[in-house]
Amino acid sequence: MRTSVTDLFGIDYPILNAGMGRVALPEMVAAVSNAGGLGVLGAGSSPPEVTRQMIREVRALTNKPFGANAPLALPNGLENAKVCLEEQVPVINYSMGKGDWICKAAHAYGGKVMASVTDQKFALKAQEQGCDAVIAAGYEAAGHSGSVTTFTLIPRLAEVLEIPVIGAGGIATGAQVIAALALGAGGVSMGTRFWTTQEGPMHPAWKEKAVELDVSDTLYSTKFDGIPCRQMDVPGARRMMEARTFNVFDVFRHSFQIARELQIPWPRLVLDTAKRGPREIQNMMRMSQMLKAHTHTMTSGDTNQGFTAVGMSVGMVHDVPTIAELMDRIIAEAHEAQTQLARNVLG
Ligand SMILES: Cc1cc2nc3c(=O)[nH]c(=O)nc-3n(C[C@H](O)[C@H](O)[C@H](O)COP(=O)(O)O)c2cc1C
Repeated sequence: MRTSVTDLFGIDYPILNAGMGRVALPEMVAAVSNAGGLGVLGAGSSPPEVTRQMIREVRALTNKPFGANAPLALPNGLENAKVCLEEQVPVINYSMGKGDWICKAAHAYGGKVMASVTDQKFALKAQEQGCDAVIAAGYEAAGHSGSVTTFTLIPRLAEVLEIPVIGAGGIATGAQVIAALALGAGGVSMGTRFWTTQEGPMHPAWKEKAVELDVSDTLYSTKFDGIPCRQMDVPGARRMMEARTFNVFDVFRHSFQIARELQIPWPRLVLDTAKRGPREIQNMMRMSQMLKAHTHTMTSGDTNQGFTAVGMSVGMVHDVPTIAELMDRIIAEAHEAQTQLARNVLG
């Protein structure tokens, strides 16, 4: 399966795991890279020294190329991007910000950079800033996405960009990989399909919950963290969506927890948030709830409390394989889809 993306990153298959914060951990990243794809570490809001440690763990588990995601607008995001550069991560994936400085510094050591985008405007900007590829997350995607669907976004970006497009959102099978490639993508990135594996760090009950759900069992709202965001349709997520106001006392209490978890001094966290204005204070309140929900999915099997991001692709998740099994299956499905197409449609 040779494409622009396999050539760009020096990998065997044009398949990436999404750099999911607190979920795409070293074991998952190394498993994807060892299976011939590109494993991408989710640095998220992790404290920078934790990110550095995770990058070193990936290196201990694989000698294949790998990447790391840093969401620049989140707490610790900029610092994590700097750590990725210091550690000379082969592929840096930034989101939620401007990354020209990342491109410049990564290219100096031979690294590659990809930006996550949700529309044509951001994709063109990323290309202008020096990115080597974009990850285009369509409406179906878990977490943050725009209003354009994956299979509309891919061909449009392939039309306007000179750099490769990696399609994301709603993709979970080999036939969908072939469909994305047919539309002009050079590869795909999958989040939901990769966390529902043996290597995924969520409590097993959440993976079983994902197996039960169908393509329509997600919620899409700005009520989670202020930006349109897709989460699993479970009671905890519905409660969060329906909450009109947050209890100020709870938020105050949780702000200590956030500061501790992110290893940011509490006064700096509060000051930075306050400086950004009332909307950001609201978002911090929401973030405190999201962090709480997320910690729950890692540690507890009670799916009536807590929630997590999933894409519409959750409807195509029917089991919890190892990543090696999943990669073999996706490649076999992709070849099968090509054969079927040649026989039934083209032949
Ligand atoms: C649990 C989870 C956590 C995520 N965290 C991040 C993140 O930290 N940074 C980011 O850019 N995208 C994040 N995403 C979104 C993915 O990058 C990607 O756009 C999405 O998973 C694609 O849709 P799919 O789940 O249908 O494959 C996350 C997705 C999931 C499922």
